[in-house]
Amino acid sequence: MYKNEPYLIQYDTTKYPFRDIINKIFDLEEKKLTLEQIHHYKKYEVVKRENDQKTDWHAMYYEHFPNSFQTLYLALVEELKNRFGYKEIVYQRIPTFRVHLANGNLAVGEWHKDKTYNHGTTELNFWMPFGDTNEYNTIWMESEEDKGDYKPYTVKYGEILVFSGANLYHGNKNNESDETRVSVDFRLVEPARFKPSDSGSINMKVKFDIGGYFEKL
Ligand SMILES: [Fe+2]
Repeated sequence: MYKNEPYLIQYDTTKYPFRDIINKIFDLEEKKLTLEQIHHYKKYEVVKRENDQKTDWHAMYYEHFPNSFQTLYLALVEELKNRFGYKEIVYQRIPTFRVHLANGNLAVGEWHKDKTYNHGTTELNFWMPFGDTNEYNTIWMESEEDKGDYKPYTVKYGEILVFSGANLYHGNKNNESDETRVSVDFRLVEPARFKPSDSGSINMKVKFDIGGYFEKL
């Protein structure tokens, strides 16, 4: 049974200005909105498992990822690799994008452990919001596998929540605050502990292997 609690790490937002990049991708200056206000731009029904990756905001992020987000992301992965003291690291090639729209929507349509979706139990999840989260728009999780003591892990911009998504049940509640949360999350794993899988991502339609869903640095 997995026992390690989620914890926070910090990074430098002047060196890694991810929020500014997302603001540009979404053209928010032109739209006269902050990232927390994008639920005013276009309304969506409460998302389900099948369509929680299908808003226009997701499409914009994935379209622009290679030319505007990737370089800084790789620099961050490199920094984290050094911080953890690894010679090499296996990392998720494209961080998964999440939008938790205000006024009652969800970011992820189902409470789950990632191993139910074929993720390896040695992978660590890194959850990184582009603004300060509150108890309604952040991720909820148990502190140990099957303990069931769910609580909100509030995370600020500049912080990353590190947790074992494969082993710990996690999910989100309807965002009853008036602030939308936008975040990415990605997995890192030490090469020696990495277990490739013939199964793959239901969202990205690629295998959980190096050269597919993962890359090595
Ligand atoms: Fe998950």
